This record gives sequence, C-alpha cells and structure tokens, in this order.
Amino acid sequence: MTDSRLTDQISQARSVVDERSEKLGRKLSYHVTTFGCQMNARDSEKLKGVLEESGFVYTDDELDADIVIFNTCTVRDNANQKLYGHLGSIGAVKRTRPDMIIGVCGCLAQEQSAREKLLTSYSFVDLIFGTHNLFEFPKLLVEVLTREKTTGKGHIISQIWDSTDRIVEDMPAKRNYSFKSGVNIMFGCNNFCSYCIVPYVRGRERSRSSEDIINEIERLAADGVKEIMLLGQNVNSYGRGLDEDITFAQLLEKVEAVCGIDRIRFMTSHPKDLSDDLIEVMSTSDKICRHIHLPLQSGSTGILKAMNRGYTKEQYIDLAQKIRERISDIAITTDIIVGFPGETDEDVDETIDVIEKVQFDGAFTFIYSKRTGTVAASMPCQVPKDVVKANFDRVLKSVQDMSVKRASLIEGRVMDVLVEDINRQDESLVTGRLSNNLNVHFPGDGSLIGQIIPVKLKQCKGFYYLGEREL
Ligand code: SAH
Ligand code: SF4
Ligand code: F3S
Repeated sequence: MTDSRLTDQISQARSVVDERSEKLGRKLSYHVTTFGCQMNARDSEKLKGVLEESGFVYTDDELDADIVIFNTCTVRDNANQKLYGHLGSIGAVKRTRPDMIIGVCGCLAQEQSAREKLLTSYSFVDLIFGTHNLFEFPKLLVEVLTREKTTGKGHIISQIWDSTDRIVEDMPAKRNYSFKSGVNIMFGCNNFCSYCIVPYVRGRERSRSSEDIINEIERLAADGVKEIMLLGQNVNSYGRGLDEDITFAQLLEKVEAVCGIDRIRFMTSHPKDLSDDLIEVMSTSDKICRHIHLPLQSGSTGILKAMNRGYTKEQYIDLAQKIRERISDIAITTDIIVGFPGETDEDVDETIDVIEKVQFDGAFTFIYSKRTGTVAASMPCQVPKDVVKANFDRVLKSVQDMSVKRASLIEGRVMDVLVEDINRQDESLVTGRLSNNLNVHFPGDGSLIGQIIPVKLKQCKGFYYLGEREL
C-alpha cells in the first residue's frame, strides 16, 4: 500500500525543522547509526531519506548531531552490547546538550526485555519504535519535535507493534551509494531456526508484489543505479502467500529485463528452498552475479535437525556441488555457528568436512549466542565456553585457508570490477568488487566510481586482489 499521509507528515516535520533552524541560525543535523544486516542498512536509507526531506543535514559525527537514530540488531548478544556502548557515550553528551534527540529503532526495540532496559537504564532516549512501524517514523518525528516534555519521567515516546501484515511502499530513501542499492522483496521469516530471534523481531514472511519491486528497480535504474541486491531472509521462498503466481526464479527473470541494471545480487538463500529453476536462471543470466550466499550453519546432520534447518549434511553438499557444476565460476559463501547446544567435537569435525568438500569461497563464523524466547535457549547441554572457543578457532582456520585457496584460482585473469570507492589506505587506488564478490584494488581515481571496468587480477593477497586496469 502507498500512504499519502507520509508526505503530509514529512512536510509537517519540515516546517518545525525550518523554524528551529531559523532560530538557531544554522541547519539541524542528523546521524543514523546502523547495526546488523543488509535489511537494516536498507531501512536506514529510508530513515535518512525521511530526515533529509524533513530538512536535516547529514553529519558523520554521531556525538555532534541534533538527532541520532540507532537502527539496532539483536541477532547475537554482542549486537546488543554494541548499542549499549554507543548509548553510554551519547548519554554523557546529552547531559550537556538536552535538546539533542536520541531514537532507537530496529530489531532490538522489538524485544520486550531490551526495551524495558532502555526505558529504565537509558531513560535519556527520546524515541523508541520497531521494525513493523518503521513507516511511522515521519509521524513520530513530528511528535518528538513538538512534544512538551523533553526530559524526565514520561518524556519517552515509545511505539511498538507486535506484528503486521502491511507493506508500506514509497518511503523516501537516501542511498549510501549512487550506483548500487538494496531492494526489499520480502519481509520477515517463517522458518524459526531454533537459535534465531529474527522471526520474533521481524514477524511473519510477507512478499512484495513483483509489480512494486520492478517499479522500484526501474526508478533506481533511471536514477543511475547499476547493481541491485534483492533482500529477504529467505529469498528462495519469495512469492508464497501472494495473489500472483510467481517464484523467486521468475522474479529474477523480470528483474533481468530491466534496462540499465547490469548486476543483480540477492541475499539470503535458504538451502532447503533453493530450486533447480533458480540454478537454471542463474546459469544462463548475464546479469546475475556469480555469487551465492548459502548459510550452512552446521555440517552435522544431528545439529542441523536440532537447529530446525530442514536439510542434512549430504543434501547440502549435493546442492552445493550441483550449483558448482551448473554455474561456472560461482562463489559459494556461507554462515557457520559454533557452539550450538549439545554440539560435540565430532559435530565440528563434520562442519570442517563440509568446508573441505564444498570449498567455500568465504564464510562468516559465529559463536552461538543464546537468545531469550527461542527454542534453543531452553535446550540442555549448553557447550562450555573454552570448548566453543577451541572449536571456533578450528573452524575459522579451516574457512580462512579455504577462502585463500579459492581466491587464488583466478589470479592472472581479466574480470569486470564495479568500482565502489577510493581506497582508504592508499588514495592512488580505487576499490571495487568482482561479480563473485571479491574485492579488488587497482590504480585509478574517483571518476571511476560507479563504473564497471575490466581489470587484470595481478596479485592475490588472500581475501582480495591487487589489479591493473586492462585497457
Ligand atoms: N536468514 C538468514 C540469516 C539471518 S541471520 C539465513 O537463514 O540464512 C544471519 C546469521 O546469523 C545466520 O545465518 C546465523 O549464522 C547467525 N545467527 C543467527 N542467530 C544466531 C545466534 N543465536 N547465535 C549465533 N549466530 C546466529
Ligand atoms: Fe533466522 Fe532461520 Fe529465518 Fe534465517 S531462516 S532469519 S536463520 S529463522
Ligand atoms: Fe540483526 Fe535484525 Fe538483521 S536482528 S541480522 S538486523 S534482521
């Protein structure tokens, strides 16, 4: 649904912001700090879009801004701790600048216990809202800008929805990059992997209509975007529950037909729902990148069952091999959790066996984090910390050795790089990405940003390449 009230609310916010700016003799500034996944990064672009259209100007200094929004993650406890660290610093600043507005939104805000902690221990926060009512941000912004009480008991505006079946279209967005963008194709998750809090904080799976998705991609292409990343917790189940009859593979074909888009990525693919049709579409496509992120989580069939993942070790290996056989040069990356309740050293050996058989091009390795309310949180046999640490180190070494080995396979070849930035360490270099998601640094200047350039991959430095432009 589109919501015409959004525009009205943004113009209301704008008149308050303009009035204040005039009084102060300067523009009001904003900062949005984002934790977590690509989904949150995209949501933050929407928050920034609303703030810019309301008349705020961006500052990269979180502690200096007039309004700071923390878009939070709660997938592992360290994500929560990171937020509390930032809030600690900003609370000290707010004591000297009581007009500063501090907002907390996103996945952590959806969790009741975390929210209570905010209300009691971080009561200087002004605004709390969640994932389901992100589109209410313009309205809440007006409220927080015009409220009577700015400190003390009762000043916090906290609005959380427990769930939603709505999808609100057309929030303005301020993209982090001019040439690439995430595009939500679905929200929420129905899988309830036993360790995971995402279904609780993001709600049930909802797909956007293909028409809305394609319209958005056409608008992005017209605005100079070359690469898009289709976003969802489980893109392979796209289309379920929609009136139209459409699968993820069919959606990709529609996206492929949009002129101006040169690269298509997607994230994340759940192994249990990956279809042969998807492999077929990927293998014949000129635009879909040669990269698939296919979270394994564990290589032990017993642990996978306890995780409620819906596949066995052998099924995963067969699937990965099929993908490698049918799609040339494909990079397969993954997520692995170490220390799930009941995991033994032998289970971890199985995980390492899968790493060696599938030959992952990259992997994020996480230590299991107990999330209140999930099924795994009440499982017996939580693994002792020292055992987890030793196994984590074994898995990490295995994935790192494997990624270096895989990356070196393309040394000497000439491949297309989409240039993303000037290199931070050495300004004579630019940094970009291959279709398979590897980073490449090569001599060049800012004028190349956003362009796709053929580059000779001269030297593999482990997880990235040094290259030279092929003229
Ligand atoms: N929907 C995606 C993953 C989203 S969360 C998928 O299923 O592939 C990103 C990653 O965080 C997961 O793949 C998992 O490896 C990790 N993760 C999720 N919950 C976790 C927990 N409780 N402890 C440690 N890692 C976790
Ligand atoms: Fe979490 Fe599993 Fe859903 Fe991914 S598929 S978000 S890991 S419950
Ligand atoms: Fe974190 Fe929420 Fe993403 S919990 S990983 S930001 S969906």
